[in-house]
Amino acid sequence: MILQETSSPASVWNNIEGIAYGGDYNPEQWPASVRLEDLELMQEAGVSFLSVGIFSWALLEPAEGTYHFAWLDEVMDNLAGIGVKVALATATAAPPAWLVRKHPEILPVTADGTVLGPGSRRHYTPSSAVYRRYATGITRVLAERYKDHPALALWHVDNELGCHVSEFYGEEDTAAFRAWLERRYGNIEALNAAWGTAFWSQHYGSFEEILPPAVAPSTLNPGQQLDFQRFNSWALMDYYRELVAVLREVTPGVPCTTNLMASSATKSMDYFDWAKDLDVIANDHYLVAADPERQIELAFSADLTRGIAGGDPWILMEHSTSAVNWQPRNQPKMPGEMLRNSLAHVARGADAVMFFQWRQSFAGSEKFHSAMVPHGGRDTRVWREVVDLGAALKRLAPVRGSRVESRVAIVFDYEAWWASEIDSKPSIDVKYLDLLRAFHRALFLRGVSVDVVHPSAILDGYDLVLVCTLYSVTDDAAANIAAAAAAGATVLVSYFSGIADKNDHVRLGGYPGAFRELLGVRVEEFHPLLAGTQLKLSDGAVSSVWSEHVHLAGADAVQTFTEYPLEGVPSLTRRPVGAGSAWYLATFPDRDGIESVVDRLLEESGVAAAAAADPGVELTRRRSDDGRTFLFAINHTRSSATVQASGAELLSGQAFDGTVPAGGVVVIAEG
Ligand code: GAL
Repeated sequence: MILQETSSPASVWNNIEGIAYGGDYNPEQWPASVRLEDLELMQEAGVSFLSVGIFSWALLEPAEGTYHFAWLDEVMDNLAGIGVKVALATATAAPPAWLVRKHPEILPVTADGTVLGPGSRRHYTPSSAVYRRYATGITRVLAERYKDHPALALWHVDNELGCHVSEFYGEEDTAAFRAWLERRYGNIEALNAAWGTAFWSQHYGSFEEILPPAVAPSTLNPGQQLDFQRFNSWALMDYYRELVAVLREVTPGVPCTTNLMASSATKSMDYFDWAKDLDVIANDHYLVAADPERQIELAFSADLTRGIAGGDPWILMEHSTSAVNWQPRNQPKMPGEMLRNSLAHVARGADAVMFFQWRQSFAGSEKFHSAMVPHGGRDTRVWREVVDLGAALKRLAPVRGSRVESRVAIVFDYEAWWASEIDSKPSIDVKYLDLLRAFHRALFLRGVSVDVVHPSAILDGYDLVLVCTLYSVTDDAAANIAAAAAAGATVLVSYFSGIADKNDHVRLGGYPGAFRELLGVRVEEFHPLLAGTQLKLSDGAVSSVWSEHVHLAGADAVQTFTEYPLEGVPSLTRRPVGAGSAWYLATFPDRDGIESVVDRLLEESGVAAAAAADPGVELTRRRSDDGRTFLFAINHTRSSATVQASGAELLSGQAFDGTVPAGGVVVIAEG
């Protein structure tokens, strides 16, 4: 007997040629004449992929059980007619008014008991049984209607799950939290042990006694806070999985995803965990206009997204052509910045470049958010840049499917982020991302690619591994990191790493418990710095935030503190380990200090820039399975820059002459 294999969805990439290009398309905001003009403009811009119907529920189902599909049928047919593929949304990111009126219990509740009302979007809690029934209902109706539609290439499930609200404190959420805890711990004494409830009379007799960590006279139990974070991240994904189960049933061959918001601003969802349930990783990224180094934050977001994708190509599902509408002051992008941003995402592994949104709204709260078609129409800088970008992406088709080359890994863990920033820590100035991003920045400036990876990731093949303020860590992950050093990598671990286990229980016997042996140090006591204070280190470097009483236990001191009461105490150490080494950094050096640590680490590990280039040029290299390599060089300065590389420059179609124009980008097929 032949057993039938469970069919798995096709790859979205099978349906799309080259680098996909497009954005969110909200045709329901426009009359038929504009929708027809859209088709022409899309062809002019080279659009190939659109997300459709994200906020369309109220128009698709204007009253319970009454459906209006004519407009969406027409849109889908017309898009298919011009060869555009669609990521069709489940339309569930904004419940219609009739549903809220009938079932106000679907609304989210905040920690102080406030019910978040309708009139905006995302006004539901993922644990509401009623909401799930209606959401799976509209999802099934959409799936049945469009299952054989030639434009359908991907399901866009809900939208930015956890955006606006990511913690849910209502009655149904509390019940779901209790059930989740019961599954996690099996019995209440296991939970008591994990939460350390012997402290402050917090012992529980049953799961029924447990509440979400809402508002209380003083600091709440850290185990309870950590589990509530885990629960909320899980609850959003559980809701996603319920919608996907319907889609799998009706359209087993169509892949599903939801758009993440991986960046330095999104803390609440464990995207490494979520990745297991997504058929392709899609990310939304918005620049912070006020950040003078916004291209570095973009690079961090893209490197993190690639890490979440396990190195596979991913979809940039949203970014902006120019200004957004939700920052305090919404500066437009500078000339050429949109191209640099888009190609920076491609350089870091995106095989699709999409925007919020296709046509700029004339009404609603996002009317001053830029789009591919601006209010001013075709005779605008933004439109010309949109058309040019479409042409540029066409020329980058050979890059599709190649992977970013990187010999450096920065370990990143949402759980450690959560645990390290729960209250009552030695210093409020230890922010999970600060040191990590300082290292990422120094590597970015040096043209060295970095993979941002989970602590359990396979670390073979990395010559340099950075572990920054990884406060909590499992034994397995600590062993994984130690194995990388033994196998030949240069591994650097910073202060406030390996302090706690996954229950946020301190690892006893001297800090940093999980890494003490690997590093050959023992930390006796923390000496966090007072606000605004700096320390001088023995080699003249300056640091802030943190110092501590480090004892050598097998490592050598490379640099020491110089000030009372830690004069002569090591601030940077190194221990040879197997074929590699383990460094320990016991303070937060300033930018120059970080750069000099990075230079030492690069020298020892033999890692170099992707190419020799003038300062201000961002560099990465993608390599295809057949060994072809593509060097991306993005000039963030306003004068032309040189890059030492040779080959065909894909955007111009000419041989690369060694120069990247001011504010320009080159992509060199090397060889
Ligand atoms: C995203 C969202 C889009 C749009 C965009 C504006 O968070 O998914 O629908 O609101 O922001 O920047």
